[in-house]
Amino acid sequence: MMKTVTNRHLLKPRRVQFDFAQTPYHWIPNDPFASHLINGIHMILPAGELWFCRIYNKALPLVTDDDLRLDVQGFIRQEAIHARAHSSAHPYLAEYGFETESFTQKINFLFEQLLGDAPLGQPALRKVIPAKQWLITRVGIIAAIEHFTGFLGQWAMDNTSWDKADPVMADLFKWHLAEEVEHRTVAFELYQHLCITEAGFYLSRQALMALAFPLFVKVLMDGYRHLAQQDNNAYQGKLAQQPIWRLLLEMERIGKKSGNVPTFSAFLQATSRWVSPSFHPIHEGNTEQALAYLAKSPAARAAETRH
Ligand SMILES: [Fe+2]
Ligand SMILES: [Fe+2]
Repeated sequence: MMKTVTNRHLLKPRRVQFDFAQTPYHWIPNDPFASHLINGIHMILPAGELWFCRIYNKALPLVTDDDLRLDVQGFIRQEAIHARAHSSAHPYLAEYGFETESFTQKINFLFEQLLGDAPLGQPALRKVIPAKQWLITRVGIIAAIEHFTGFLGQWAMDNTSWDKADPVMADLFKWHLAEEVEHRTVAFELYQHLCITEAGFYLSRQALMALAFPLFVKVLMDGYRHLAQQDNNAYQGKLAQQPIWRLLLEMERIGKKSGNVPTFSAFLQATSRWVSPSFHPIHEGNTEQALAYLAKSPAARAAETRH
């Protein structure tokens, strides 16, 4: 299938660096829940985004559209830097005594084994599922995940509550999420390009979202739990032991009260938009707004002057 041509925009990598020496562990003031939920992302994304890069490098030879190939190459370069930037926050967590290794090992298992080249980590399944089909399925999973990063990206562009937060950490997330808005159409269009029929594209992207949505929510909440249970704050320690629905209610409450995290209901609404046959991520965000943030992001500006 040919890709839907959206706004042509050359994706460029911005080689950012961050210094977290002055960043408190509750980097969103008086909000340990939001701080831990968002810091959990540092433990999830390095493995996840490097997995995106590996899958896309394997998919590149299948791309027959020159514009889309450029988009995919730009996407790979941006995601590789995202992974590195989040890894650079690990010493910051360690400095405050947070153990991350046992959690990142589980994430590595998810991306390197379960979603590796042998389907679900089972070499016997290689005989049942052709390698190309498994590759395209994983491209579809990335498209579903990128719907969430695009949604979170636009949310972060509209957010003002982080203006009161630690400027370095807020800039890391806003720079990253601005680039997620910037490249939000690539994963969807690559998956569309690799699907043989429009009906197959529609049905399979629904099936993959049914898988990706609960997985994404669980991994995000597990990241929160892992950090919150190590916090001296008694409320956070207790909350970390609660079932997932209780954490989602807390996300809803904090999101409504402070705007420091998106509400879970907004997240559900974003997921429901994916169901429409006319869904396209171009309508999910504002590229100009993302580029305006990148033009003023301290880290992106410093990267510009270094090169
Ligand atoms: Fe990213
Ligand atoms: Fe992305």
